[in-house]
Amino acid sequence: MSTVVLGVGGGIAAYKAAEILRRFTESGHRVRVVPTTAALKFVGAPTWEALSGQPVSTDVFTSVPEVPHVAIGQGADLVVVAPATADLLAKAAHGLADDLLTNTLLTARCPIVMAPAMHTEMWEHPATQANVETLRARGVVVLEPAVGRLTGKDTGKGRLPEPADIVETAMAVLERGEARTADLAGLRVLVSAGGTREYLDPVRYLGNRSSGRQGVALAQAAAARGAKVTLVAANVAVPVPAGVDVVRVETTAELYDAMLERSGAADAVVMAAAPADFRPASVATTKIKKNDEGTVPDVTLVQNPDILRALVDERQDRRMPLIVGFAAETGDETAGVLEHARAKLARKGCDLLVVNDVSDGKAFDRPENEVVLLGKDGTVTEVPLGAKLTVAHAIWDSVAQRVDKGDSWPPRV
Ligand code: CTP
Repeated sequence: MSTVVLGVGGGIAAYKAAEILRRFTESGHRVRVVPTTAALKFVGAPTWEALSGQPVSTDVFTSVPEVPHVAIGQGADLVVVAPATADLLAKAAHGLADDLLTNTLLTARCPIVMAPAMHTEMWEHPATQANVETLRARGVVVLEPAVGRLTGKDTGKGRLPEPADIVETAMAVLERGEARTADLAGLRVLVSAGGTREYLDPVRYLGNRSSGRQGVALAQAAAARGAKVTLVAANVAVPVPAGVDVVRVETTAELYDAMLERSGAADAVVMAAAPADFRPASVATTKIKKNDEGTVPDVTLVQNPDILRALVDERQDRRMPLIVGFAAETGDETAGVLEHARAKLARKGCDLLVVNDVSDGKAFDRPENEVVLLGKDGTVTEVPLGAKLTVAHAIWDSVAQRVDKGDSWPPRV
């Protein structure tokens, strides 16, 4: 059983922290809630005490003999702050300690996850952005807020991610343990996931079997290790993780634009999506009808651009961003899986190739995966069969070793 400290800031999303608390206790963790005074204006202390079975206070002068301002932080295995207001982020970034929560943040030596929630203007303000950068550079996992309905009629970026998603990411941080927390802090990553749809008419498309699970796991793993993640999601069949920026696309052309537009601002780009290699030459604007004669339409296909190659061709600096491709391969009479993969690595020009053996339909829409990582430098790393999240961590380990060698990372803060 781990001890989780749940810090609650004074924002309207404080009520959602009750569900975060419940999810932690239901999975067997001891939770100590430390709200700010402002948080208690939204949800009262009895709620936190009843749900956690622990006393609740906001200041350092309650239960003084237990020295709570030091003991709570020291005794924590994980601190989660949700919602983290602009004020709390500022205090944490500058080391202020004027209440129990900010004292706890200074004394904690365990992983810290902060889930900001505020209005878009406050989130985008250079002061808040600078504080977030400072915290990330220090190893705090600061999740990106979600986009959606805010207090009142506003919508935009600044919404607290769903409690279930925050807990999932926080658990992933907890499982990795203290030593390697936030080792990707400051790294900006761009990940594509899913399979594209190439429309024939407004209702029909050519698609593929990619569920997006591996790409989504990559985004989740990177966020849990402190990276700033943008996930370009092509029709993914699984929920997207908390704390990442999500750009939704459908077609290969949209995926191409979304990736090329953002790759220049990334330190690492991972093309886990399965773009369709071909699309119908034209898309009918109205639904294609059957006819009584039974004649079928001729569909002419044209080739789609290769996004991975375009990403490699477009990069200004040969090292940045580091580019990772995927290869779904089967062996045949001419060569084995790895030989085909090596040829593909050379053809695509990327830095790392994640090779999936897809003989017998392996890897598609399954929770587990088994891959080989081929480096441009000739390295071969076998990643044994495991959860796609575990495989994702192995891929990031490999990326971290490579980007580490450059001069522009660790972070530019
Ligand atoms: N890819 C891409 N753009 C495409 C097709 C593929 O960026 N139009 C990327 C995939 O995201 C993946 C890598 O290229 O990272 C390998 O995809 P794969 O389909 O295995 O390679 P192909 O180039 O299509 O080679 P082939 O089908 O001949 O094996």
